[in-house]
Amino acid sequence: MNKWFTEKLVLIYLICIPFLVYGAHPRQTSTSAPITVIGTGYVGLVLGACLADLGHTVTCCDVDQNKIEMLSKGVIPIYEAGLHEIVLKNLESKRLFFSTNICESILNSSNIFITVGTPEGKNGEANLSYIFDVAETIGKNLHHTKTIFVKSTVPMGTIEWIREIIEKNNPTKTPFNLGYAPEFLREGSSVEDFMHPDRIVIGADNEETADIFALLMQPLLDQGVPLCRTSIASAEMIKYASNSFLSIKISFINEIADFCEKIGANVEEVALAIGLDKRIGKAFLKPGPGYGGSCFPKDTLAFLKAAEKYGIDLNTVNAAVQTNSLRASKIVEKLQSRFGSLAGLKIAVLGLAFKEKTDDVRESAALKLIESLQNKGAILKCYDPIATENALKVLPDLATFSNPLDAMEGADALILATPWKEFLELDFQEVYNRMKNKFIFDTRNLLDEKSLRSIGFEVESIGKKNH
Ligand code: UDX
Ligand code: UDX
Repeated sequence: MNKWFTEKLVLIYLICIPFLVYGAHPRQTSTSAPITVIGTGYVGLVLGACLADLGHTVTCCDVDQNKIEMLSKGVIPIYEAGLHEIVLKNLESKRLFFSTNICESILNSSNIFITVGTPEGKNGEANLSYIFDVAETIGKNLHHTKTIFVKSTVPMGTIEWIREIIEKNNPTKTPFNLGYAPEFLREGSSVEDFMHPDRIVIGADNEETADIFALLMQPLLDQGVPLCRTSIASAEMIKYASNSFLSIKISFINEIADFCEKIGANVEEVALAIGLDKRIGKAFLKPGPGYGGSCFPKDTLAFLKAAEKYGIDLNTVNAAVQTNSLRASKIVEKLQSRFGSLAGLKIAVLGLAFKEKTDDVRESAALKLIESLQNKGAILKCYDPIATENALKVLPDLATFSNPLDAMEGADALILATPWKEFLELDFQEVYNRMKNKFIFDTRNLLDEKSLRSIGFEVESIGKKNH
């Protein structure tokens, strides 16, 4: 008991070093030492806001001045359920701050999270230039012992490179702790995922780093969330292995869907029955136009590249990537076999985001499909509840509408590309009246085919026998 008490006292001392050195941060209101989050994108903003909501004092930094100005006023640049509320709440209670002054924030913090992007670079390898720049900045501003947690997704071995860069750029040779805490947040439900995760992972090469991380996450651990303490190498592997496994599951069910169509089976029935086997599990067995987003496509490619360097063949991951890359063309082929030439065909598209409940269009299957159809000469008219602005940044000439029914006026075909629940609320009798040719392709198996057919629609879906 005494040993436990002494250990906790040492930890509290370590976490509070900046208080002891600088005095309390002037804006400080909570009881824990300040945290800096570097990179206020999807991951950094959710992390920063949620850490503040757990009671910590957090400064989210970014090089994007415009973004920081907006956030300081409580304007959120992304759509994410529940995020606006917690950002406002914690701005008001002075636990959450936004700044472009990364150096000052580093100086004033004892714990630093790195969440800058690691986009796909050349040949599918992760582009680590942003994260290395941040490591250099941390090194130059490391005058007192701090604990640095990397959250960005990085290939194997990167954390050691980050350590070397910090050491090389640190003139005072100040010791520091470094850990890798991979994130598993899903866009659209990231606040919920942060507050109620299946598990939390911390990769560290000393107990102290993992203990400090555990203290920061204590409110979640108190709810019974398992904490996996691993080596740094294991944590790096866990992140890529998790995303790759989920990608494999999706590509697998998409292949099964194609097979189901050939033999007259129904992929929904198949997915439900196989998913009820606990060893398989029900999640991520939804067939569709292929996985997209900022993670699965880039992480699977980066994983393959990393494996190649070590002489490992990740055949299953490679197959998942290949299968995924063919999804859009399979949908185009189905349309061609139904309509013949697509040149001049008017197609309404519902959904532009890579999935529902987000305005993110990165690697969106909907956009890939739209581009393939445009290349075949089809005329596209599109609607998304919130992702239109982002889609127009990628495809500036796209015809978009603020009302879904207007997109369908005179259409030869309607494609549902993103499974927004609000599409279920559409008045399909009115859709029927507006469309020229009554053909719906539900690439997400969202709609009630039976009732659509009763209205008079011809319906195509994924992995089912279509009548
Ligand atoms: C995150 C992770 O960091 C990435 O590794 C993971 O695979 C996907 O999720 P995300 O939050 O989606 O990335 O990235 P993004 O929305 O692009 O945000 C990154 C932020 O970092 C941007 O706001 C950018 O301005 C900022 N940034 C980038 C810096 O502040 N400094 C830099 O040097 C580079
Ligand atoms: C994913 C991981 O789930 C998350 O743990 C990680 O931190 C980041 O990457 P995200 O990309 O936000 O999250 O979305 P996710 O819900 O996983 O969906 C990814 C893609 O797969 C979407 O395009 C989605 O439509 C597709 N998908 C998902 C399917 O096609 N079928 C499914 O059954 C599930």
